[in-house]
Amino acid sequence: MIYLKTDEEIELMRESNLLVGMTLGEMAKWVAPGITTLKLDKIAEEFIRDHGAEPGFLGYAGYPNSLCISVNEVIVHGIPNSYALREGDIVSIDCGVVKNGFNGDSAYTFCVGEVAPEVKQLLKTTKESLYLGIEHAVEGKRIGDIGHAIQTYCEARGYSVVRELCGHGVGKNLHEEPNVPNYGRPGTGPLLKNGMCIAIEPMINLGARNIVIERDGWTTRTRDRKPSAHFEHTVAIKGGKADILSSFEYIEQVLGDKSI
Ligand code: MF3
Ligand code: CO
Repeated sequence: MIYLKTDEEIELMRESNLLVGMTLGEMAKWVAPGITTLKLDKIAEEFIRDHGAEPGFLGYAGYPNSLCISVNEVIVHGIPNSYALREGDIVSIDCGVVKNGFNGDSAYTFCVGEVAPEVKQLLKTTKESLYLGIEHAVEGKRIGDIGHAIQTYCEARGYSVVRELCGHGVGKNLHEEPNVPNYGRPGTGPLLKNGMCIAIEPMINLGARNIVIERDGWTTRTRDRKPSAHFEHTVAIKGGKADILSSFEYIEQVLGDKSI
């Protein structure tokens, strides 16, 4: 069942997602060679709690940390650990908070120092595909329209789309219906209605689409160990239109002209 949100609930969702955006902005200040992913997780957890909210992922389905931090060939759900970031890495930081009973959920893939041009291009294309998908998150379209836009854009540029993991409805629960695949056929899938809140999160690989889940049960990487990019926004359908509730503005303020 798809939970439709009232305008008041969408404003609460906006508050949660704003804090996610601020937390990712804080992360942008710290991402650099030498910092461990566990240190980033601790900084984010403290930042979230200092702002009167709870980390949304911590304890969810037994997940052990506040952030998912996924380096290079790790697609998503990387568990923070003692790995220290290195020049040339890419790192997806996925952040969730719960505030006033509602979840915020957003992710951004950062460059650590100088990154190979072909990998930078992967990040740029993935981020662009997220916004192309969002253009279809309007009343009267269908879930398949979003996935189709993302898939055709990325595949036309030689990248592959992960199939096993999808975006999702989001609200009082982190994961609600509907599923939001990053592939699909136009005019198929659930109808989009005002009040729906969905997390759109393309996971796009430089090489083949195949995945491997590591033995920790979370860490999901490319089978060919080539890099993967991940960007995520939470979006409400409101007044017929896409209303992006999360924000990359705090990140982009920090990155300035280093932003991709
Ligand atoms: N943004 C991710 C997702 O929607 C993060 C979930 S991690 C979990 O799937 F640990 F909370 F599951
Ligand atoms: Co998500």
